[in-house]
Amino acid sequence: MAKDDNKLPISAQIQQQTSKLVDQTQGSQAWSSIFRPGSIFRKGYTDSPRNRSYVIMNSVLYHLHPVKVKRHAVKVSYTLCLGGISFFTFIVLTVTGIFLMFFYRPTAAQAWDDIFQLQSAVTFGLLIRNMHRWAAHLMVLSVFLHMARVFYHGAYKAPREFNWVIGVMLLQFTLLLSFTGYLLPWDQLALWAVTVGTNMMGYTPVFGQQVRFVLLGGVEIGTDTLLRWYVLHVLFLPFVTVIFMAIHFWRVRKDGGISGPL
Ligand code: HEM
Repeated sequence: MAKDDNKLPISAQIQQQTSKLVDQTQGSQAWSSIFRPGSIFRKGYTDSPRNRSYVIMNSVLYHLHPVKVKRHAVKVSYTLCLGGISFFTFIVLTVTGIFLMFFYRPTAAQAWDDIFQLQSAVTFGLLIRNMHRWAAHLMVLSVFLHMARVFYHGAYKAPREFNWVIGVMLLQFTLLLSFTGYLLPWDQLALWAVTVGTNMMGYTPVFGQQVRFVLLGGVEIGTDTLLRWYVLHVLFLPFVTVIFMAIHFWRVRKDGGISGPL
């Protein structure tokens, strides 16, 4: 530090020292071997349209974003970030769901007890169970509102009609995830909700009884139903939902970013 620097106020001295440390770190060989040219973390980045494109293309995290976005697309009041909120709730559900899987066994004899134990004896069990439940409600709500927003803006029209169809599939998967999860606590509410639901599906024309049989894993609700719905809930449906989400996000980009204002 220069002699005169001691006269600087303490906050300016700290600022000076910090920027010196940042410069040293960013100038080091270790740093530049990790962050490639064009990265905003790399020393010497000059703000030009070409370098801005490099930043996006060379970073694992940023390359998910387009190189350029339209001004309206970053305005929160246009989309209300409802698609983003739907995705966020899905992430919360995945993380909390994995936690729940450590304590839950999908058999008629154990399911209800496991849930009871989870919320009465496991640290943070009740909190995580409720986070999972509330995030599920929120996801159904936000997906529905997102769809309403897209409809209101006429964003279902060409060239986005294919993405609308993908969206409709995502809505189905969201509802199915919610419904299959509802059975898992194996309480009276779950049991009768699924009895009513599968009875309704039994009225499907022509294949009604077969549909009901496949869904129940038998002629009436029981431990086979629980196992079937568990596998659908924790494996099959999340798997296909992730694939459809990837296509959905890819299409948003390919259709020229989100639609413009009316
Ligand atoms: C799991 C459910 C869903 C997720 C995570 C999701 C996510 C997203 C995201 C992040 C966007 C970017 C813009 C925004 O946030 O609004 C978007 C756009 C879009 N979504 Fe979804 N979405 C879902 C369900 C749906 C549904 C149910 C529909 C319609 C039936 C739909 C149709 C569309 C369309 C057409 C666009 C382009 C909108 C535009 O260009 O303005 N999505 N979605």
